[in-house]
Amino acid sequence: MEVIVKKGKAASEKTTALVGFFFEGTKRPEGVLKELNSSLKGKISALLESGDVKGKSGEVSLIRTDRLIHAPRLFLVGLGKREKFEKETVRQAAGTAAKMLKQYRLEEGTFLAETLPTQKFSPETWGELLTEGARLGAYSFERYKTVQEEPKKALKKVSLLVGRQAPARMERGVKIATIITDSVYRVRDLVSEPSNAVTPSRLAAVAKEIGQKTGVKVTVLEKPAIEKLGMGGLLGVSRASHEGPRFIIMEYNLKAKHRPLFIFVGKGITFDTGGISIKPANNMEQMKYDMSGAAAVLGTLEAVTRLKLPFRVVGLAPTCENMPGGHAYKPGDILKALNGKTIEVKNTDAEGRLILADALSYAQRYKPDGVVDLATLTGACIIAVGNFVIALMTNNDRLAKKVMQAGESSGERTWQLPLWEEYSELVKSEIADIKNIGDGTAGTITGAAFLKEFVNYPWVHLDIASRAWTEKDLPYIPKGAVGIGVRLLVDFLRHWKNE
Ligand code: BES
Ligand code: MN
Ligand code: ZN
Repeated sequence: MEVIVKKGKAASEKTTALVGFFFEGTKRPEGVLKELNSSLKGKISALLESGDVKGKSGEVSLIRTDRLIHAPRLFLVGLGKREKFEKETVRQAAGTAAKMLKQYRLEEGTFLAETLPTQKFSPETWGELLTEGARLGAYSFERYKTVQEEPKKALKKVSLLVGRQAPARMERGVKIATIITDSVYRVRDLVSEPSNAVTPSRLAAVAKEIGQKTGVKVTVLEKPAIEKLGMGGLLGVSRASHEGPRFIIMEYNLKAKHRPLFIFVGKGITFDTGGISIKPANNMEQMKYDMSGAAAVLGTLEAVTRLKLPFRVVGLAPTCENMPGGHAYKPGDILKALNGKTIEVKNTDAEGRLILADALSYAQRYKPDGVVDLATLTGACIIAVGNFVIALMTNNDRLAKKVMQAGESSGERTWQLPLWEEYSELVKSEIADIKNIGDGTAGTITGAAFLKEFVNYPWVHLDIASRAWTEKDLPYIPKGAVGIGVRLLVDFLRHWKNE
């Protein structure tokens, strides 16, 4: 779906639907809606006065325009209370509007951008927020539907109509958000695909495709190279699978030595059965999304390269399947990670941290200024924070603060959990250096405490188990894969200032 900016007048605009926005409690139409109201012979004021619509966020009403203006329909989308207005309000309203156009099976629609409180943000930001909300809201994953109930129709275009404002600055925002949401689409697609389609080798092939397309350097290590390096975690977890492991390395702009270097690391378990410590059958199909961290890394590197951000950025994605079988690694086994530390496997279902141990150790060779890992690491994360926020843990509060700020401004919010020394005690092993589970308390934090053993740089761990998938339809996140991570990490880089 394409978003464009257009200069013109609402009443004469040739479009199948206009979309206007208004705050809760609006008594009479103002500005653009006031003009439109006279063309529409008072239809808008009549609706507002009727009390049938309140302007609550998420509320949409339809006015048939009866040929009084060019567009046959006008949708009015509520923004909620004026005092609560923020960036997220705009994304949500745009997402709601795009979903409504889709629901009416329209291929095109026009947002009246100047019905929004224009003075709140720069034109660039308006372009970004509206594009993000509309494009993300319009997403659906329909590849495997071969039988259609009705002939296929997709929303192809949303125009942002401005009258007074100069469109060029808004267009800049549209461009940036189009690149970012292209990558979110990519992540959602990868995560939605079942594990028989997105295997470790397929994930690696997609990384290569991104390399071809954008110029980011992509190296994929296969089993012999992984063995040679000594990535005992990745080798252990992948042992029973007929799909070989892959270690994906994406490097952007590394020659710019004076630029800060950031590394993003993503867990890429393309299917998590639990292994010998097997998971219950109920809901096990959900474990196709256990590669959401890796997908986010691929998408972020794609976006960063296309946006030509002024940093050095490395993406690392260890990927494999976690299967039971005759060759499977077993509880009690001891693995040696890339940094030489030995790990007692107490539970083969705590596999994410084992492959991340190697990836985080690998990251050390770059001497990074900051590393952020993303992993659907623990079910306990969902218990702790629900499905509204990413759990964040860190060894560096300065870096964490930047990530949390990016969370606020991107709408992919994070919340910090402690990572005190006490928690590290819980993952000490009697027979090896460390064990892969704690004592059952603080599951999300002990996961992070485990990972901490493999880092020697400023580091933030994001447990995205709570945020990788949504069972609820949200304003700009349709039920299914959220595509979490790209917007957060790109925002983090765009706002990074060395102080
Ligand atoms: N991939 C799971 C975590 C998960 C569960 C993500 C549900 C999303 C939804 C992870 O590999 C896992 O199985 N973790 C175990 C850890 C435990 C054995 C310490 C868990 O959460 O039960
Ligand atoms: Mn697991
Ligand atoms: Zn897992």
